[in-house]
Amino acid sequence: MSAQISRYVVALSQPMSSFDKPLTATLQIRGEVYDVTEFVDSHPGGAAMMLKYAGRDATAAYEPIHASGTINKYLSEAQRLGAVADEADESYEDSIATRRESPVHAPLTRPRDDQVIGTRPRKRPRLSSMISIADFAHAAEVLLPTTSYAFLGTGAEDNHSITRNHTTWQTVRLRPRVLRPIPSAPNTRRRILGNDFSAPFFVCPAGGAKLCHPEGDTLLTQAADQQGLLHWVCKREGDLKARIAEEGVDGDAAEEDDDGEGFKKQPKIARPPVYVDFTFDSAVAWLRGLTTLPIVIKGIQTWEDALLCHQYGVHPWLSNHGGRQLDSAPSALETLLDIREFCPAVLQECEVFVDGGITRGSDIVKAIALGARAVGIGRGFLYPMVFGQRGVEKAMEILKHEIETTLALIGVMSLDELGPQHVDTRRAFHSLARL
Ligand code: HEM
Ligand SMILES: Cc1cc2nc3c(=O)[nH]c(=O)nc-3n(C[C@H](O)[C@H](O)[C@H](O)COP(=O)(O)O)c2cc1C
Repeated sequence: MSAQISRYVVALSQPMSSFDKPLTATLQIRGEVYDVTEFVDSHPGGAAMMLKYAGRDATAAYEPIHASGTINKYLSEAQRLGAVADEADESYEDSIATRRESPVHAPLTRPRDDQVIGTRPRKRPRLSSMISIADFAHAAEVLLPTTSYAFLGTGAEDNHSITRNHTTWQTVRLRPRVLRPIPSAPNTRRRILGNDFSAPFFVCPAGGAKLCHPEGDTLLTQAADQQGLLHWVCKREGDLKARIAEEGVDGDAAEEDDDGEGFKKQPKIARPPVYVDFTFDSAVAWLRGLTTLPIVIKGIQTWEDALLCHQYGVHPWLSNHGGRQLDSAPSALETLLDIREFCPAVLQECEVFVDGGITRGSDIVKAIALGARAVGIGRGFLYPMVFGQRGVEKAMEILKHEIETTLALIGVMSLDELGPQHVDTRRAFHSLARL
């Protein structure tokens, strides 16, 4: 296949059809090599755009722009030259193996602006290699254009909130009890706002899904439906490509990283203004006028506001929106611990939701043991979209399996048995104070 893929000519100044001798242009998308010689001059995005990727893997550039099925619609079977050999994946496998050996669990974000980022793994990762949520983040970093990955992965300002989200759950220890009978897989089912779901986690609303896959939110909803899970749909989901263009991309590396190597700084997305004139009174009254469904207020970051939710008869969702809004905001765990201390009745009488930095089933078990009703996952389900619906479903299955394993290892058969006796937060107070 390497012989075929090297048979290309980059012709940026003239139409392919104007050359006397026959030329061949090939490019690679999702591990398949295509002969685009005849198609290139009629490509709606322009011939030059396509020839920029001649002889190379165009997946990362192609995926966010085109609807699924485009290739089958415009290219014949004869123009599909074949699959790239499996050995192409080796360097990615190596890079994942190295990361797994690292004692520090790789966070789902990039380092701070001023930190140098090493060389990206260059080969296409495979869905079969994904065994943790962090693996999907690394795959998305390889497969998505730099600006898309930056939009999804970065946080506000200096990334203090996003970093805290990721480190905070490690400060809580689980308290495993031994010689508790676990005759079969523990039950992960959870009742959330009056409905039954297969697990205590859900898909967070996020306005970036279309950057990962052309089907955007629809794909996430279908995956959640298949897996018996809740998807909280984002009302603002629109054309994020347009939103990025409108809001601007700030930073030195705003251009797509063409050769996939060694960009030094992450681009950051400028935040839109956040001025609103709602109060608790007017917001709850407005929502009650629209629906009789239960109301949840997302973005609660203090125990006082959680108490207000309780007083207004709505449910608090502890979240700093994935660290994308206020930097130096508390993590959901910190707010949850404050609620336990200052207004524990909220946990008995409201359904409390948490999100931010959760990438492991064990983190979900900790949150439930501390009184949360369910846990939201944002980026952890956006990144697997680079593998389509099956990718998202696999990420969901991984989390369910991790929850089952954690429950079995701490000696409980169902989520309902979990309580504060299963976690040790004494170290959390000390460690959180140092963060
Ligand atoms: C087998 C390869 C490709 C095929 C069959 C293909 C096909 C198409 C089609 C049918 C459109 C019209 C819009 C749509 O229906 O989605 C389009 C638009 C476009 N394509 Fe491609 N394309 C290919 C590769 C590429 C590559 C490698 C790039 C590189 C970045 C690219 C960039 C674009 C751009 C920028 C547009 C315009 C999008 C817009 O204005 O909204 N295409 N392509
Ligand atoms: C790309 C992106 C876009 C988001 N857009 C929204 C949004 O429009 N509305 C909202 O309430 N939360 C939004 N969020 C926040 C998520 O709902 C959720 O709170 C957060 O992603 C959870 O953190 P995690 O990504 O670490 O799991 C967004 C998150 C991301 C990553």
